[in-house]
Amino acid sequence: MLMTNFLKKRKSVREFKNKKINSDILDEIKLYLDSLEREYGTGNLKFKLYEYGEKLYEGLRGIGGYSGVMIESPHYIGLELIDDKDKNTIYGSYYMEKLITKLNTMGLDTCWVSVGNVDKDTKKDVFGDIAGEINYILAIGYGKARNPFINDSFSDRIGVEEIVFTDKIENHANVDDLENRGLGDLFYYIRFAPSTLNKQPWRFLLERDKVTLLIKYNKGEEPNLIDAGIVMYYFESLGESIGLNSKWQLVSNTVEEGNDCYKYIAELRL
Ligand SMILES: Cc1cc2nc3c(=O)[nH]c(=O)nc-3n(C[C@H](O)[C@H](O)[C@H](O)COP(=O)(O)O)c2cc1C
Repeated sequence: MLMTNFLKKRKSVREFKNKKINSDILDEIKLYLDSLEREYGTGNLKFKLYEYGEKLYEGLRGIGGYSGVMIESPHYIGLELIDDKDKNTIYGSYYMEKLITKLNTMGLDTCWVSVGNVDKDTKKDVFGDIAGEINYILAIGYGKARNPFINDSFSDRIGVEEIVFTDKIENHANVDDLENRGLGDLFYYIRFAPSTLNKQPWRFLLERDKVTLLIKYNKGEEPNLIDAGIVMYYFESLGESIGLNSKWQLVSNTVEEGNDCYKYIAELRL
């Protein structure tokens, strides 16, 4: 499926059928998890498949997920970071999103679940002894059929002009200019990437020969690097479909504009 269609259609699934994934498919998933770890290649990222989802669900019920609303699924995949350097957090979610795309092509549904607030002892109990830290897991399985008579809930997205700046932070882009540069579709579809609490903190600073990914956050808070990695994965994939084959290069800088802060995450040559 074209990445544009995929992004428009993708959505988090929070209700799963009580149906396990068969063992051949689980084996294929395990091989893919290994290949992603090798692709990152630093040893700092591990994907852990929890085949018996019941135990994990019982352990995290009332505490995992937004406000303790834990998502129940037959299996989960933990994103384990061996250390919390920015690069590992960013590429951890980059590869998690690559995994989600693969699982979707296999007919499986998913939802990110935040478990950063869960205490250490509970984590040890549900995740076992692990070298690093798991703050996010992925619920996976077969989503329940949707009722065709009920309008699907849809998470709103902010406008293209709001997420793209030209030449200067807060100098909002003009959609016609983006179209003229052949970047209209890319910035239209990139907005369908998922983000924590659907906050969509990504901003793109577009200059003549490069685009810089910024993460917007409030003074006194932390920028969300997990959301950054996710959008980087989709940007590269959408880019490929329009012949833009460059990869992001990480950068580091922070700018304050009143109460808004922008963390510079990465640059991509156009
Ligand atoms: C890093 C991350 C953590 C998330 N954590 C949760 C969660 O704990 N519970 C939940 O119901 N949804 C969670 N989500 C799903 C987002 O709320 C969802 O992606 C967003 O609202 C956009 O909706 P969509 O994915 O259906 O397009 C998470 C998403 C991301 C990217």
